[in-house]
Amino acid sequence: MTQNRKIAILISGRGSNMLALMDAIESGRLDAQVAVVISNRPENQGIELAKSRGYTSVIMPSQGISRQQHEQLLIAELKWHNPALICLAGYMRLLSPEFVQTFPQQILNIHPSLLPAFPGLDVQKQALDYGAKYSGCTVHFVDEGCDSGAIIAQTVVPILDQDTAKTLADRILVEEHKLYAGAIQFILNKNWEIIGRRVLATKN
Ligand code: GRF
Repeated sequence: MTQNRKIAILISGRGSNMLALMDAIESGRLDAQVAVVISNRPENQGIELAKSRGYTSVIMPSQGISRQQHEQLLIAELKWHNPALICLAGYMRLLSPEFVQTFPQQILNIHPSLLPAFPGLDVQKQALDYGAKYSGCTVHFVDEGCDSGAIIAQTVVPILDQDTAKTLADRILVEEHKLYAGAIQFILNKNWEIIGRRVLATKN
């Protein structure tokens, strides 16, 4: 039986990480298939890009219904596509513990800081205001907390004296686009284990 290497990508907006994953797959750097792109917001740039590239794209609005109802619909859609991994890429909603427990060790997120520093929102501004000299990006498993799951991969980005939140975000984004595909490949290849909080490569 061939191994399931399907991924679902969940987005809310711009979709540049989603595009980077598609580029990595199309150029053979990431051995995976995009089963579906799901956006919780209608008419955003990301979902238009996914459609224009011919990927199965679903808009599942989160406004106007309860979190529970929205997540039930999302779970049903995801189970239909049966992805090995659910990759959050700028998905601007916290997932409930029930959702997370439905897909154990199957949900990944990319976050534009060096976790555990600066979880949450506006993190480049947080890093600048704190006076940090380095930031970066993190790919991690999603658990029941906010940006608190086990870390899979990180890239360090120096903070320059002249940085604004925008210039720092732009430089981090370049690294995000490189980091996520490699982290997904590593997880799909299954040569890893979690010991405590540590995601470690297993020896073959
Ligand atoms: C990225 O910085 C990502 O790390 C964060 O949200 C942003 C999404 O950007 N979670 P994009 O939609 O992938 O362009």
